[in-house]
Amino acid sequence: MALLKFKSFRTAYAIAAASVILISSCGSEEKAPETKTDTQKKDTVSKTSDTKSSPGKDFFYMKSSSNNIACADCHGDGSNSDRPLTKYFSDIKGADKRKSTFLGKISGEEVKKTAGGATLCWEAYMKMKTPMTPEQIELLNGYYASLGSGDTQSEVTYETIALPDKDKAKLKTEQDQILKLTGDPAKGEVLFKNACATCHGENASVKKVPSILEDFDGNVKSITYNVRFGDGSMPFFKLNLLSNQEIADISAHILKINGK
Ligand code: HEC
Ligand code: HEC
Repeated sequence: MALLKFKSFRTAYAIAAASVILISSCGSEEKAPETKTDTQKKDTVSKTSDTKSSPGKDFFYMKSSSNNIACADCHGDGSNSDRPLTKYFSDIKGADKRKSTFLGKISGEEVKKTAGGATLCWEAYMKMKTPMTPEQIELLNGYYASLGSGDTQSEVTYETIALPDKDKAKLKTEQDQILKLTGDPAKGEVLFKNACATCHGENASVKKVPSILEDFDGNVKSITYNVRFGDGSMPFFKLNLLSNQEIADISAHILKINGK
């Protein structure tokens, strides 16, 4: 294809000049459709951002063939802050160089070997049935590193009762506390849009998620259980990023919509 174009310009430009121009101007135009065909074939990569695409980035934005969610739906890479869930989960910049991840569950050599623990997310949250390959792990480590390491955290810390193991006693305390709070359904609606709608919203693109906006037979306690511990492919939410009052508000919204 490049050759054909080259021919038609040949009369107008000196050969050397033309090849420089063609390489610089056609290079990017021709790459785009190629990537698209690839995408359609695999039916996996979602089109995204303004920044240059790379195999590592494509993998990070690839939707799971099982439930249609991508790493980039949950984690920030500096260019996807428009996706609401990214403010609840760790940024991945420099994750290959962390001392440990998942609050110490993964440490030392294991950090690189699991792409910072992404292999856990791959199976738990993306429901992929075949393990991530060494090549894919390498792509991710390369992508983390390519985002720069200026302000990279050597460890990401946060508060949760889901790690290292689900703390049932603490959950009970939380449930009791939340039951005593008065939830504001209007605030809850906004919070729901941010924290839950990617999966539970009416037009959610993530698959294999139960509807909780109609015929929901749960209550404040069961909502708290799901939010704090996570459940299957539903991630847990941290205490410091989603407060008990906010869970009370979200619960009020869910229960109101269900006519409870
Ligand atoms: C449904 C949301 C979700 C998806 C999709 C997801 N993850 Fe995660 N990921 C989490 C949660 C929850 C944690 C643990 C809490 C945290 O770090 O925010 C986590 C933790 C991580 C960590 C460890 C961060 C640290 O320093 O402790 C990395 C790295 C990571 N994920 C990368 C990925 C990659 C790469 C993918 C895609 C292959 C992916 N995740 C898919 C939710 C998700
Ligand atoms: C990444 C997608 C995802 C996000 C984000 C998410 N959920 Fe879920 N949720 C799920 C999935 C998947 C299940 C089913 C879990 C299972 O049983 O395997 C579920 C289950 C639930 C259930 C239990 C439903 C039932 O009928 O048993 C509740 C309640 C719930 N989620 C509430 C929430 C709330 C509240 C939020 C926001 C704070 C939220 N979820 C965010 C995916 C998600």
